[in-house]
Amino acid sequence: MICDNISVNEKGHLTFNGYDTVELAEKYGTPLYLMDEDKILQHVREYAAAMKKHMPEGSKPEFAGKAFCCRQIYRLLKDEGIDIDVVSSGEIYTASSAGFPMERAYFHGNNKTDRDIEFAMESKVGCFVVDGLDELEAVNRIAGEKGVTQNIILRVTPGIDPHTHKKISTGSVDSKFGTAIETGQAMEITKKALACENIKLLGFHCHVGSQIFESDPFVTAGEIMIKFIFDVKTETGFEAGLLNLGGGLGVRYTENDPEICYEEKIAEVASSVKSLCKDFGIKEPKIMMEPGRSIVADAGMTLYSVGTVKEITGYKNYVSIDGGMTDNPRYALYESPYTVILASRANDNKDFTASVVGRCCESGDIIQENVALAKPKRGEILAVLTTGAYNYSMASNYNRVNRPPVVMLNSEKDYLAVKRESLEDLCSLDI
Ligand code: LLP
Repeated sequence: MICDNISVNEKGHLTFNGYDTVELAEKYGTPLYLMDEDKILQHVREYAAAMKKHMPEGSKPEFAGKAFCCRQIYRLLKDEGIDIDVVSSGEIYTASSAGFPMERAYFHGNNKTDRDIEFAMESKVGCFVVDGLDELEAVNRIAGEKGVTQNIILRVTPGIDPHTHKKISTGSVDSKFGTAIETGQAMEITKKALACENIKLLGFHCHVGSQIFESDPFVTAGEIMIKFIFDVKTETGFEAGLLNLGGGLGVRYTENDPEICYEEKIAEVASSVKSLCKDFGIKEPKIMMEPGRSIVADAGMTLYSVGTVKEITGYKNYVSIDGGMTDNPRYALYESPYTVILASRANDNKDFTASVVGRCCESGDIIQENVALAKPKRGEILAVLTTGAYNYSMASNYNRVNRPPVVMLNSEKDYLAVKRESLEDLCSLDI
């Protein structure tokens, strides 16, 4: 199996973190998001320990909540001592109402409204990741109105192509995110930030993209960033104490994706940053990384019930499930590969090939094409693996489909973290 938390039991049922998925589907209904709490904590601890071991003192990961955001994840992370990346008033509210200490939050986003900025300051968010000039001025003005000094880092674009899907590549000069180093605008905004009365500049941030398996893009980003930190020191005397290299390490969606050792990648990036600091004669900044996908993706699995099985003679076969692009839009958006398994008969011969499709009125409502599995019967349980990142957080109510619940699994118990949306919930804001 692609991850060690997945197996098959004596009944031939797929198991997840030791739980029989067919029994979980009976208990909670389908569609159903499962999250393996133990796996989430394993990844968090692996990142935190590796960064502590290989990087300068104070270096640590931030969990990027956009990958999976609900109150329970922040409760789990609170005691782990890691920081979080938040991108909206909604994420800030979710984390702070779960009791997460907001001084450990970094506020991202390329277009924070004045209201977002005010709300973040009222929620005592520790650090803003300022994306551009307009925002710098707004943060300075609002901090002044509130009588606070706001810690910030500046998001800059190092001008790198990380060789990933273009919709999840973000570090190029023409990106909508950040301020480009190449054009001189990053230096300009740095000088402006240093001159702002109500702002304390701590350092710099970059994020090159997502689902990246090699360390090269991070090493290259590190090189450009350290050189930039040196140039800033030379021109202004300001020496950055913090360098955030963003998120983006990849995960295995299928057997075709390589296995990845996060500690190894972290060590490679760390050793490059360290030797560059030495070469440039600057002090080693504290390093932050912002993993989202690699913390939660393989901690997730989605269970569906099979509905219509359609064989179009001479053409193709369809297996329709009781969810689809509303709970997992990633094939529709990126043609993302997934491993699909008939959980009810996981050991049976995979002699039927079909497109697994959702129930929306939309031909693009596809979970995966060309899936080989035992021919499923109506009512059997189908599992899609590695759905812990960017599934629940990107779910929608298109076709007025209610969103599935999230059930957490740990070594002691299974429990609801998010309830199933009811039909009433769907109309709760309608006048
Ligand atoms: N930091 C920043 C500033 C980001 O923009 C992102 C992701 C992350 C960290 C976390 O990246 P990760 O470790 O999860 O790769 N919806 C897409 C992914 C978009 C990622 C957006 N930013 C997907 O489903 O693949």
